[in-house]
Amino acid sequence: MKIAVIQGPNLNMLGIREQNIYGPMKLEDIHTQMKNVAEQNGFEIEFFQSNLEGEIVDRVQECMGDSDGIIINPAGYTHTSIAIRDAISAVKLPAIEVHISNVHAREEFRSKSLIAPVCSGQIVGMGAFSYHLAMMGMMQILNEVKAMKEQQAAAQAQQAQQQA
Ligand code: DQA
Repeated sequence: MKIAVIQGPNLNMLGIREQNIYGPMKLEDIHTQMKNVAEQNGFEIEFFQSNLEGEIVDRVQECMGDSDGIIINPAGYTHTSIAIRDAISAVKLPAIEVHISNVHAREEFRSKSLIAPVCSGQIVGMGAFSYHLAMMGMMQILNEVKAMKEQQAAAQAQQAQQQA
């Protein structure tokens, strides 16, 4: 099973930008940690970062038929992008919204997310560790989905056998 990690604008500047808010870790270091966790747990993982809204919409759309779940930090687009929200809603995959900072403790405009209502869950304010928690949440969701599908397949096979 495959997890797509999608990072929004300015997250390529982690480790440089506002370290007092976002901490010292670079995006590539966060991704290395996530990759290790994914591999240890038997998941595939793919990373994408863009500063452009349309590219993020394209990447979300590409997840359909290719990935099983999405971890997304839409960054500044969290508070403005109907297009990213619609894309997540369209692909019908479990998605977890991540924020490094506690968006509720900052400027008022950051406390509103257009994305959260179409996500399975949201993790905010735990620094770079937010991504690790999102990984835990997504792996749990995907394991549950897998178990449910296996159960359904077994029940169908049993039914078919009884009818034969
Ligand atoms: C952020 C919070 C957003 O409000 C901000 O625009 C970001 C980063 C976070 O991870 O804390 O760029 O998504």
